[in-house]
This record gives sequence, C-alpha cells and structure tokens, in this order.
Amino acid sequence: MNTVGEKRSHESAVGHVSGKAIYTDDQRLPAGMLSLYPVLSPHAKARITKIDPAGAYEIDGVVTVITAADVPGVNDTGTIVYDEILLPDEEISYYGQAVVWVAGETDEAARLGAEKVVVEYEPLEPILTIKDAIAADSFHLKPKAIKRGDPTAALQQVDCYLEGEMAMNGQDHFYLETHASWVIPDGEGNYQVYASTQHPTETQIVVSRVLGITKNQVVVTCIRMGGGFGGKESQANPFAGVAAIAACKTGRPVRVKLKRHHDMILTGKRHGFLGQYKVGFTNEGKIVALDVDLYADGGWSLDLSSPVLLRAMLHVDNAYYIPHLAVKGQIAKTNKVSNTAFRGFGGPQGMVVIEDIVDRVARHLGLPPEVVRERNFYHGEGETNTTHYDQEIFDNRITKVWQQVKDSSNFTARREAIAQYNQASTYKKRGLAITPVKFGISFNKTQYNQAGALVLIYTDGSIQLNHGGTEMGQGLHTKMLQVAAQTLGVKIERLRIMPTSTEKVPNTSATAASSGADLNGQAVKDACETLKSRLAVVAAGLLKLDTPEEMVFADDWIYCRTYPSARVHFEEVTKQAYGDRISLSATGYYRTPNIYWDDATGKGRPFYYFAYGAAVSEVEVDGFTGNFKLRQVDIVHDVGESLNPLVDRGQIEGGFVQGMGWLTMEELVWDEKGRIRTYAPSTYKIPTIGEIPENFNLHLLERAAQDGVIYGSKAVGEPPLMLALSVREAIRAAVAAFGETDYVPLASPATPEAILWAIEYVRDRATEAVEAVGEPQPVSG
Ligand code: MTE
Ligand code: MOS
Repeated sequence: MNTVGEKRSHESAVGHVSGKAIYTDDQRLPAGMLSLYPVLSPHAKARITKIDPAGAYEIDGVVTVITAADVPGVNDTGTIVYDEILLPDEEISYYGQAVVWVAGETDEAARLGAEKVVVEYEPLEPILTIKDAIAADSFHLKPKAIKRGDPTAALQQVDCYLEGEMAMNGQDHFYLETHASWVIPDGEGNYQVYASTQHPTETQIVVSRVLGITKNQVVVTCIRMGGGFGGKESQANPFAGVAAIAACKTGRPVRVKLKRHHDMILTGKRHGFLGQYKVGFTNEGKIVALDVDLYADGGWSLDLSSPVLLRAMLHVDNAYYIPHLAVKGQIAKTNKVSNTAFRGFGGPQGMVVIEDIVDRVARHLGLPPEVVRERNFYHGEGETNTTHYDQEIFDNRITKVWQQVKDSSNFTARREAIAQYNQASTYKKRGLAITPVKFGISFNKTQYNQAGALVLIYTDGSIQLNHGGTEMGQGLHTKMLQVAAQTLGVKIERLRIMPTSTEKVPNTSATAASSGADLNGQAVKDACETLKSRLAVVAAGLLKLDTPEEMVFADDWIYCRTYPSARVHFEEVTKQAYGDRISLSATGYYRTPNIYWDDATGKGRPFYYFAYGAAVSEVEVDGFTGNFKLRQVDIVHDVGESLNPLVDRGQIEGGFVQGMGWLTMEELVWDEKGRIRTYAPSTYKIPTIGEIPENFNLHLLERAAQDGVIYGSKAVGEPPLMLALSVREAIRAAVAAFGETDYVPLASPATPEAILWAIEYVRDRATEAVEAVGEPQPVSG
C-alpha cells in the first residue's frame, strides 16, 4: 500500500481544530519563569539622550530591566550583515523599536514596569518612503544588475515604446500565533530555547552570539508554529535573543510572547516595491526589450532584503521570454520595520511589475491581454527558453497548465458572455482574466540547499522521525511521515514526528523557499534506506535466505521478492537486529545537485526546477462603491506527483487567498511621522471566509511526476500565492469596461478606494476621447 500520494489529513488537524495542539507558549510553565515586556520608541528616528529604568523597580514583581549594558556577547541580531542592534542605546531607527525590556514575575508586572521606564529622545527627520530614500540616496548595499542583450539599443528600434512605474504595498504576515520564545538556562552555562522559528539553527546562532557562548551550548527547539509565512525566518531571532540575555542575567527561565499589536508594530513585513520601466514591443504585442529598475523598501536594517530583491529580479520575467532584458535592483533604507521574507520572497513583487506591463502593452495595442501573454511565453525549445540569468527552462509546462485552465474554465465563452453583460450593465461591470505563474525552486544561495534527518527505531518497532524542517501549518511533518513510512514499508502509525531541534539535526537551513519537503524528504528517505539495508540482512537471516538485496518492505512485513509467502514482521526484525547488535538509528543527508549561482555576473542555474500554474478569475465591480466580488476562480497547478493531494490543495487555496489579500485589501499605512497606523485587525483587513470565491475550482496537473525530486513531487508552499494576480487583472478588466482607454492604472492593493480612482481615470479618458481633444498620449506614472 502506498502512503505517499494518499489524501491524508494534516498530522495535527485534530489538535488544530480542538485547540489541543501545543505551541511554544502553551507548554507547562517552568517554575520561576519571568515575562518580558518592551518599552517602544515613539519616534521613527531619534537620538536617545537618556534611559532611566529606575521607576520600573517601584512596581511589585519587576525583577530587572534589560538594556544594552546587559548584553554579554554581541548586541546585534543581523543575519547577513551585522546592522541590527538588539538593544539600542544611541539611535532609534523605526517607530516602535524596542529600547529596553522589563522582566517581571508576571506579564502584568512587566507591563506596568515598562510604563515607568523613562527614555528621552531627540527626534530626527525620518526617511519613510522609497522615493524619499531615492532622493536622499539612502540605500542598503550597492545596486545589483542582471542583463541579457542590449535593451537600450533595442528600445530605439521597436515599433512601440512605453515607460511608467508600478508601486505596490507590503503585507503583514498575520500568522495566528504571534512571536514567542522561551529560554531556559540549565545553570551550567547551557540554554534550552523554545521558539516559534522557521530557522532554529539561525536562532541558535543569534542566541549564542548575543550571549557570547559557543553554539553547542544552545539548543533551539520548534514544536510547531501557528503560521510563519516567512515572518519567522529571521524575525524570531531578536525575541529569542533578548529572552536569552534576560535568562543569562537572572539565571531564570524567561519568556517573550508578543501581543498582536506589538507583533505588528515590531516585526518586518513583505517588502513594498517600486518598479520603473521602459518597454519596447512590436505591433503584435511581442515584448522585445525591457529595462526595469526595482526598488525594495528594506526598512531600517538589511535582514533578508538582498535575497528578496534578487528573487524579484529573477522573477521579473514571470513566464515570458524577453530577448533584451535589463533589471537593476536597489534596497531603500527607510525608518520603518525591517522588511523580510514573505511567501514568494520577492517573486510576487517582480511578477506584479511584469504583469502590469503586459496588460499595458495589450491595452495600448487594443489586444486582449491573454493574447499578449501567450505571444510572450517561453517556448519549449531553443533560445526562447532561456531566462535573462542564463538558466534554461527544461520541462516547460506553462502552455500545458495555461491551455488546461483556459479549457476547464470555459474562458473564451465566458469572455463573450461578460462582454455582453457589460454592454447591458451601467453601474456594475464584470472582468475576467487569466495569468500564469512560473516560480523557481531552490534557495538562491546554493549552500542552503542541503538537509539532514535522524531516524531512530526502538526495540518495540516504534520509530522516531527527526528532520531539519519546521512545521508551520504547511503539512511538512505529514509529508515527512508519509515519506518515512513509504520508504521503510511500515504503517504510518509506527512513526512519531519529533519537534524540530538543533540537537537532533544540526546546521539546518530555514524551512523556506518552498523546499522543505524537497530537501528534508530526500534526507528522510536517505536515513530510512540506510536502516532498511541493515534490517534487510537481519530479515534475510530470519527467513534463512542469503539474498538481503531481494527483501521487500511493505505494510510492516518483510519478505523476499521472489518468495512472498514466507515473511517476517517488522517488529520481529527490529528485536532481532538489536540482538545481533545492529544499529537501529541512522542519519540521512541530501544536497540538491546541479545548481549554482554567480552573484558577480548575475548568471547561473539557481533553480533545480520551476513550478507552474495558471489561474482564471472573474470579478464583478460595483461602480458606486469600488467593491468587488470574486465570482469564480479556476486554477490548474503543477505540484508534480503530489505527496499528499489534500495538503497540497490546502496550500494552493490558502496561498491564493493570501495573495488576493495582499493585492486587494491588506493595506499598511504609516503616517507622516512614520508611525504604523495599521497594527490590529480593526485597521488591517485580511481575507475572511466572506472573501473566498463562490466557485473555486482547483485541478492539480495530472501525470506530472518531476524527475529527481522526492517521489516525483514538486514544491507547493509559495507558487500558488502568485495565482492571485489573476484577481488583480480581472479587477482591471472590469474597471476598463467603465470607459474606453488604452491604459488602466490600478494601485496595489486594489482596495475599493483604489478601484474607484481607477474607474474615475477610465471614465475621464473616455470623456476626453469623445471630446476628441487630439490623440491620446502614452501615460507614464
Ligand atoms: N502554509 C501554512 N499553513 N502556514 C505557513 O506559515 N508558509 C509558506 C508556505 N505555506 C506557510 C504555509 C511559506 S512562506 C513557505 S516558504 C512554505 O510554506 C514553507 O514550507 P515548505 O517548504 O515545507 O513548503
Ligand atoms: Mo517562505 S517566504 O520562503 O518562508
């Protein structure tokens, strides 16, 4: 019986819905645990002139106040570069930055103590937007550039030419479980950390750094996360860090558990981006040359902004072959939270820019956008199948998923029907759009593409499974259990998945880049195969056969391929193995082959393969309110040979809805002083059940096994988020129907307000056209 490929529920599904699943801060409190509460800066940029914690000690239950002076090691939690001070004592870099933390016997004591801490500031003028940063030449790192061909020359010779810009907002992760860290000192210089972190190894590195101790003195365990979405890839580290400093100072266990508003004020988000472009194309809509500058709003420190920007630069082509393409990237340094990984990791931002451009090209020429999209696709052969960074796209499935969803959604007929509906309807207009997704799988940084596992079999035949990945709801543990059960040929109930811990599998990568199952799956399989080869010898011995290589492991039984009627049970074999003094534990290891990246030239083969998908969305826009309703969504998505179709469907639906939230309703607002105004669900609207499309048709691409990936599966965590671009484009199509125009500027997110502005724009242009005031000019900006 196969375990891989089964529609299995998430291993914690019952725990999730019954509230019994334990997260970091749900564990039984250790005796004497202290709570930390932050003192936040009221300024986005300021010099600190005084920190006086004395008042805090007047509060009953306040134990100590943690300031820069308490850091035994390095006061910095930066990951790629050391530019992220943990406890500032001179300068404030963003609104809400935690200056000091108060440790109390209770949450309440710590909170009251924090109110009594006096911090004085000399406010300075903050830089708050990408454009301000450009004007002030305020950037992190040097610009990056990737180029193929000669866009400057090509732009001189094209039939048509446009220039413009596309700005988009960021996004709060809004995981249900806010950041949480517990640090428990053992009194002998070692620290056990429990953290809600996608990257236990990096949390271990940062804790050892701030404490000035070696990594082997720190164990970081992640039981599970109530969502991460990239927001716990690096951003868990400061909270673990400050808890560790407090634990070191007091010798007591210490916890940080962020309130929702603190989480939203303190932590980095998806990067807002600005794209500025020049595009040249033929009269048929074939894009010949594109010159695009991408600016990411990095916030105050670098964090993961450089790889996020790079992924945006590597996805600015989306599914399109553009012969002359130059992309430059820069990271704006602003006085805001330090923006970070978020599902798609820059890919979505790059793709929004190109989809915006493609639509503009189509409307400029009066062609249907889907036709222009098709005319620009990468083709299955020859040089039109190589990206601007020199990676050849083998196994190109763009046309396949595209054609399939176009057919299954009845696209052509519905387009007709919608045109008729729009003719007859004055105040409500419908729009239909189809968009493709091509998303590169692997960490761009080659060295991160490795993983480990540790599998332990006990003499009763029960098994513990450890791997380097973390569970954040995406179903990685479920898939790893399936892979182990399948490889060992045992019932899945024999296996227990253990919390992810740096003492079981060391030197791990973040669970990110959608590659959790690809990487850890191979490592788990490797460990299981090692054990299997040892057990095969034992089983052959029990069966009095001398052909261990012929042993088959299935459904808890072991037998010879050619003689299946004589068999031994897995439990008997494990007992015998112990008796024969055969080791019952094994590590497994994997590294992705054939990938490389040259950062200096911006060329390489950074991705092991690409994931593909296409989506058709239909919306109805209300011309009075700017509200839209998502009437129908059709998706065909390529997950290879799914490890677990139930989990994968959840990932695709969830990713799509999260992407739709980013593009249509989640609006981050900072005021003119740099204070974030959207730090609670009351002011920050995420999609709810009411926004789920009425008709949501999802098909996994069939017979799609991918060579060289665990059991033929493909990564699924991030790519579906970008299917939501179809919603944005459908809104644009509906807006266009309110007037007649060759351009529909639509802000991102396309909130009702933004939609109303767009409608107003196309109505005005229609009036102008009627008045025939000369030829309409191409609009930039
Ligand atoms: N799904 C759930 N339910 N919760 C999450 O936090 N994170 C996403 C995606 N799906 C996330 C999720 C992100 S950003 C990534 S990179 C992948 O899951 C990580 O897990 P994987 O590599 O195992 O797919
Ligand atoms: Mo995902 S943004 O790579 O954690």
